[in-house]
Amino acid sequence: MPEADVNKEEKKYYENIPMKSECFFLKGSNSLDWGMKNRLARIFNSDTGRTVMLAIDHGYFQGPTTGLERVDLNIVPLVKHADALMLTRGILRTTISPAFTTPIVMRASGGPSILKELSNEEIAVDIEDAIRMNVSALAIQVFIGGEFETRSVHNMTKLVNMGLRYGIPVLAVTAVGKDMVRDAKYFRLACRICAELGAHVVKTYYVPEDFETITASCPVPIVMAGGKKLPVLDALTMAYNAIQQGASGVDMGRNIFQSEDSIAMIKAVNNVVHKNLKPAEAFELYKTILNKKK
Ligand code: R5P
Repeated sequence: MPEADVNKEEKKYYENIPMKSECFFLKGSNSLDWGMKNRLARIFNSDTGRTVMLAIDHGYFQGPTTGLERVDLNIVPLVKHADALMLTRGILRTTISPAFTTPIVMRASGGPSILKELSNEEIAVDIEDAIRMNVSALAIQVFIGGEFETRSVHNMTKLVNMGLRYGIPVLAVTAVGKDMVRDAKYFRLACRICAELGAHVVKTYYVPEDFETITASCPVPIVMAGGKKLPVLDALTMAYNAIQQGASGVDMGRNIFQSEDSIAMIKAVNNVVHKNLKPAEAFELYKTILNKKK
């Protein structure tokens, strides 16, 4: 037992130094509870306020996507280079070692396959299971303008309610139907609806015109989705432009894991996101890493 601690003279109270009350570093997140902020701070680097999230959840509606046929062989070596990993609980439990400490953003919606109407989704993970798997955030698709728009929005609001109960943030993914025009007007609408209805982070596509109006009018952090595979320099340019125009990071899949050298690509993207490396320099970095292996 320690002795009773009674000697006030020996204590240091620093009465003249007021305790600091600091703002949380992420946009729109200051009023969240401690657990929620702590999970967001695992995903977003607190020095840059940004993240490089690796998305490998594509199998939840399209099966063994090119590059994801063997997650154990193709993706596991990449994981340590990502700030966060977005995936399904099936791949997490079967293929990712619990010894990995990379934060997990778990896909929490599903239902239709690519053979059916994709907006007809339901919540596909219990909050208790998300807690068991120690996830840092839950991700859900929102189909603004889609056939099952209202259902997808309600899925998101239900997930936000569950997440708030346990301090787990929700990433809303703006899913674009085949008939939608991918422009700033559409993404301003979709992102703002997600944030207004409680999403803590929104994932959206880059558009070359007025992307900064999407980030400016969304009161929570936006991460840029990668989309289909582009030439390396184009993908790096897109990531650079999105970051310079207000995105708080990227959540990229195919442009990383379908690259000729996915480790070189994620390193190049990391430098664009966290160090503001220009696209041409990042491309040089990519080529240097690639050529060293040849
Ligand atoms: C798709 O619905 C998933 O959320 C993917 O994670 C997302 O599209 C990002 O992957 P990619 O960069 O390949 O588009």
